[in-house]
Amino acid sequence: MVITRLSRKQLAVNSGPRVRIPPTPPNFEKGANMENKTKLKLILFSDIHYLDKRPKKIDWVLKRKLTQYADVLVDTLIDKINNEFKPNISICLGDLIEDQFNYDQDLNNYKYIWNKLKRIKTPFYSVIGNHDLRTIESRETLESIMEYPNATFSFDLEGYHFIILSTDIIKNVNIDDSILNKFKNISKEEIYGLYKSQCISEKEIKWFKEDLNKNKLPCLIFTHFGLAEDNQAGNYWFEIEPEVGLLGNRKIIKDIIKKDKNVMAVFSAHQHWTKKLNEDGKDYYVLGSLTENINDDGIPDGVYFEVNLEDRTIEIKEHHLIIKK
Ligand SMILES: [Fe+2]
Ligand SMILES: [Fe+2]
Repeated sequence: MVITRLSRKQLAVNSGPRVRIPPTPPNFEKGANMENKTKLKLILFSDIHYLDKRPKKIDWVLKRKLTQYADVLVDTLIDKINNEFKPNISICLGDLIEDQFNYDQDLNNYKYIWNKLKRIKTPFYSVIGNHDLRTIESRETLESIMEYPNATFSFDLEGYHFIILSTDIIKNVNIDDSILNKFKNISKEEIYGLYKSQCISEKEIKWFKEDLNKNKLPCLIFTHFGLAEDNQAGNYWFEIEPEVGLLGNRKIIKDIIKKDKNVMAVFSAHQHWTKKLNEDGKDYYVLGSLTENINDDGIPDGVYFEVNLEDRTIEIKEHHLIIKK
């Protein structure tokens, strides 16, 4: 499938990427009557944590992230997307890289995995995750690689409205000592790395509210940090401090979602496990990580969603890639 470059006027896109934008289907009118049947297939995956070279010493982080399988997992998934599922759209929910506090290495790794993902033949988009931002520390730098004017944007496709919400860097974030003291095995730099990329900017919250107000189509929202409340008991990463598994300013986002009639589902990642939660009558789906050593047996989770939409019904199939060692 060739994605044609269209002018912004021709597209139902707000603050969207310059390229790889799905063209508006010829028979689709914005705000179309929902009596007309609309169908769409979406493939959703996340938390690739690509790392070019695993260090000799494997700590508690890399013991759990099987980064050595990131390449083969992504290759296998791209092959399935292009030749088997042939969806209308594919979306990644962030954490493309496992950052190493090394700007050049992280930037090269981000470019490498982004270039690989460009082999997806359907329209493809990604959210920005905390590991993508932690060392690179600039959303603009990532946006220039992704060729996005802005990593928070929305667009319409096949009678559905899609919203991609990315967080931004907060300078000089303050963390209470009582929180810092909870993390025995983690450096302060790592903890600050989480907190500083955990919020959506005020400007983009305002944009989000206006965008939803304008929208008349069934809507899907995609973000990296979790939105639904969850104490994350039993979660390898966030049981110790559930707040860092969730979006910092999630309450205001959820208040907007709660009042909206068109939001069908919200998808997030980051917590490296897969579950469905419901809050205020809205469904929140948390998707796990492709490379997570989920059962501590050295086998990557390989999880991804096949999402089938028909009118206002949603069917989600959870799949797992199996990698031959
Ligand atoms: Fe992650
Ligand atoms: Fe994350």
